Amino acid sequence: MNAMVVYDSQYGNTESVAKAIGEALAPCPVMRVSEVTPEQLTGLDVLVVGSPTQRFRPTSAAGDFLASVSAAGLKGVRVAAFDTRFSAQRARSMSAVLGFVVRLLGRSAYAATHLAKRLEQLGGALVAPPEGFRVAGMEGPLEGGELERAASWGAKLRLAQEPLGPRPDHVVPGPRGGKPQARSQPAGRG
Ligand SMILES: Cc1cc2nc3c(=O)[nH]c(=O)nc-3n(C[C@H](O)[C@H](O)[C@H](O)COP(=O)(O)O)c2cc1C
Repeated sequence: MNAMVVYDSQYGNTESVAKAIGEALAPCPVMRVSEVTPEQLTGLDVLVVGSPTQRFRPTSAAGDFLASVSAAGLKGVRVAAFDTRFSAQRARSMSAVLGFVVRLLGRSAYAATHLAKRLEQLGGALVAPPEGFRVAGMEGPLEGGELERAASWGAKLRLAQEPLGPRPDHVVPGPRGGKPQARSQPAGRG
């Protein structure tokens, strides 16, 4: 599997999450948005993009990166998006206005939602809902357990890339209009 994790990060938290996801997903490059050229996306099977949530959106560097991908440039690529963010509870405790806006915007208050939408617009096939990992303050650190959750999300993405069970030709028609039955010894994956 030809995979890549691309991220932006101001204080290093999203970078740590990106690395944990990359390690669990596949042996693959984990690169900062500013280092990736559109050519490096050629031939990818899987692209995961992450950004800190800043002012309810991805950073401008993350946005610029996706803007640099040509139209339909991710056709046939399986994609997923993540962000780092405050929990809704923390946002409320920091500022009533922030808490209110977060509630008002719902999922649109977070970078991963916008990244996922853009990845799909570019032709990518989303293999998981956008995911957020929580930080305890502007500069972090990540809340307890979030790196472990990032690793299990990466592992889930890896499983989503594997072939999905027997192909239809492993199923034979049932007796006289009966229900189709799986062959007793399915002919392996491939
Ligand atoms: C300018 C700025 C705006 C931010 N706006 C939001 C926000 O709207 N919602 C949120 O949950 N967190 C917000 N944050 C907190 C960031 O999500 C947090 O700094 C980020 O997760 C840390 O990731 P990093 O270490 O990779 O930069 C903001 C942070 C900065 C610096």
